[in-house]
Amino acid sequence: MALLITGVAGFVGSHLAERLLKEGFDLIGVDSFLDYYPKGIKENNLKRVRENPRFEFIEGNLLNLNLKEILEQVDAVFHQAAIPGVRASWGKDFSQYVENNIQATQVLLEACKDIRLKKFIYASSSSIYGDSDELPIKETSPTNPVSPYGVSKLAGEHLTALYFKGYGIPTVSLRYFTVYGSRQRPDMGFHKFISAVLLGREIEIYGTGEQTRDFTFIEDAVEANLQAFFGGKEGEAYNVGGGSRIKLIEAIRIIEEISGKSANLKYKDPQRGDAKHTYADVSKAKRDFGYSPKVNIYEGLARHCKWLKDNLDIYR
Ligand SMILES: NC(=O)c1ccc[n+]([C@@H]2O[C@H](COP(=O)([O-])OP(=O)(O)OC[C@H]3O[C@@H](n4cnc5c(N)ncnc54)[C@H](O)[C@@H]3O)[C@@H](O)[C@H]2O)c1
Repeated sequence: MALLITGVAGFVGSHLAERLLKEGFDLIGVDSFLDYYPKGIKENNLKRVRENPRFEFIEGNLLNLNLKEILEQVDAVFHQAAIPGVRASWGKDFSQYVENNIQATQVLLEACKDIRLKKFIYASSSSIYGDSDELPIKETSPTNPVSPYGVSKLAGEHLTALYFKGYGIPTVSLRYFTVYGSRQRPDMGFHKFISAVLLGREIEIYGTGEQTRDFTFIEDAVEANLQAFFGGKEGEAYNVGGGSRIKLIEAIRIIEEISGKSANLKYKDPQRGDAKHTYADVSKAKRDFGYSPKVNIYEGLARHCKWLKDNLDIYR
C-alpha cells in the first residue's frame, strides 16, 4: 500500500515518514521547503527516509503540483503541510497562512474528489480552541482561536469536514497539542529553551511562566496518525494530547535538572496569540482507536535534550 505525506520535510512529517516506512508502506513525500525555517534543517530531517528505496520525494508546492497524478498512486493522505507558528501569523504574513494552510488544503481536497482513498488525515491544532474556559478541552468545546494561525488551521479543518460531507472523502482531523522531541521546529519553546540552557544563553519567557501546556511527545503524535488511519471515524476530529500538562516554568526546571545547567531567565510581556492554558481530553481518541500517550514529560524531555545536545550544529 502506498501513502502520501505532505510537509514531509517538516518536524512531524519526517517522523511520520520514518514510522510508516518502518511499518512497510511505500511512501510519496511532498514538501516545498517553505523558508519559515532554513532548508538545511529540513534536508537534515529527510536524510534517513531518503535512503529508503520505498520513499519517493517530490519537491514542490501543493498549489503548483499535478496532484491528481500523485494521488492516483496512493491509498491515503497524511496532510501535514502548513506554515506553522502563532506569532508570525499577525500582519502582512497572514497571506502565507491563507495560501499554505487554507488554499493548499482546499486544492488538495479538490484533487482527492475522484480518488478512492482509505483515509485523509489532516494535521489540525489545539490552537483552534483559543482560550478555553473548559479544561480539559473536549472536541465539543468552543473553537475561538486567539491567533490568525489558529483561524487558518480551523478553516482547514472545516474544509476537510466539508469535503467529507460533500464528496465522501474519508477525512479525519487530529488536533495536536504542542508536539516536542527530536527535530522539533527551531521556533518552538522546548527547542529554544534546551538550546539556550546548553549554550548558556538567555531564555525569554513571555508572561509569568505560569501558563500551562499539554505537551505531546513526537512518537505519541505519530502513533495517533497510524491509529487514526486504521480506526479514526470519517468526518470526525480528535484531540491528540500527551497527558503531560505542566507550567512552562516547571518544564524549564526539568530541563535544568536533566542538563545539570541553570537557566538564565528573562521575563517579557505576554505575546498576542498565545493561549493561556491547553489541556486535552483524549478520551474520544482512546475510545475510537485506542490512543493512549506513552511518553511522559520527564522521559520525553530527557530524550529531546539528549538529541539536541548531539545535534546542536544543525541549528547554528
Ligand atoms: N508541531 C506542533 O506542535 C504542532 C501543533 C499543532 C499542529 N501542528 C500542525 O502539524 C503540521 C506539521 O507541523 P510541524 O511542526 O511539523 O511544521 P513544519 O514547518 O516543521 O512542517 C511543515 C512542512 O510543510 C511544508 N509546507 C508548507 N506549505 C507547503 C505547501 N504549500 N506545499 C508543500 N509543502 C508545504 C513546509 O516546507 C514544512 O517542511 C502542521 O500542519 C501544523 O500546523 C503542529
